[in-house]
Amino acid sequence: MEDRMKKRVFSPPILLLFLAFSFLLMLPEASATKWTVGNSQFWNPNINYTEWAKGKHFYLGDWLYFVYDRNQANVLEVNQTDYETCNSDHPLQNWTRGAGRDVVPLNVTKIYYIISGKGFCFSGMKVAVHVEKLPPPPKAAPVKAGAPTLFSTSHILLTPVVFAIGAAWDAFIHFW
Ligand SMILES: *[C@@H]1O[C@H](CO)[C@@H](O)[C@H](O)[C@H]1NC(C)=O
Ligand SMILES: *[C@@H]1O[C@H](CO)[C@@H](O)[C@H](O)[C@H]1NC(C)=O
Ligand SMILES: *[C@@H]1O[C@H](CO)[C@@H](O)[C@H](O)[C@H]1NC(C)=O
Ligand SMILES: *[C@@H]1O[C@H](CO)[C@@H](O)[C@H](O)[C@H]1NC(C)=O
Repeated sequence: MEDRMKKRVFSPPILLLFLAFSFLLMLPEASATKWTVGNSQFWNPNINYTEWAKGKHFYLGDWLYFVYDRNQANVLEVNQTDYETCNSDHPLQNWTRGAGRDVVPLNVTKIYYIISGKGFCFSGMKVAVHVEKLPPPPKAAPVKAGAPTLFSTSHILLTPVVFAIGAAWDAFIHFW
């Protein structure tokens, strides 16, 4: 009984404290992520950017960062039709600034269709990014280490963002 109590009182709160802190640390970054398109492969031909964007969440306020050879490619925002057909004749927005280092601010909730002109779109240099509204931030709650109220506080704190830490939550459920 004593051991059980100990476990109930201490272990889950420590886990939750860790989760809460990890989340709070992640939050400022999550609200403004600068996504390097293609990661270490950057903006180059023969990369599947649908694959790159898959599973990522792009939020309002994030940026796309394109790194490429300025003498070759460029960065053009087009509509869906032109994205699908690789038509760069009438871009909605030309994000090319000339240095081969271009930043696209994702300040509208929509799908951004971005391609490279000069024929490179046909080699796969096209990316579609669905920009979502930021999920409402959790209420900041004062966290006292070891306080018995920690569990319930953290529970309330974490509930609205459970989907964002689904895996960790599963682990917690099992733990509990
Ligand atoms: C890129 O990956 C997507 C999703 O995995 C796939 O549907 C598509 O066919 C791929 N495109 C090319 C050009 O291989
Ligand atoms: C994209 O633009 C082209 C040319 O301006 C137009 O013909 C086409 O209908 C547009 N497609 C969409 C989905 O708006
Ligand atoms: C885009 O803008 C850059 C820099 O101003 C310019 O050099 C380039 O010709 C433009 N490209 C298109 C397709 O409009
Ligand atoms: C988003 O950014 C673009 C380019 O900087 C700007 O033209 C546009 O007005 C902005 N839209 C909003 C809703 O802030």
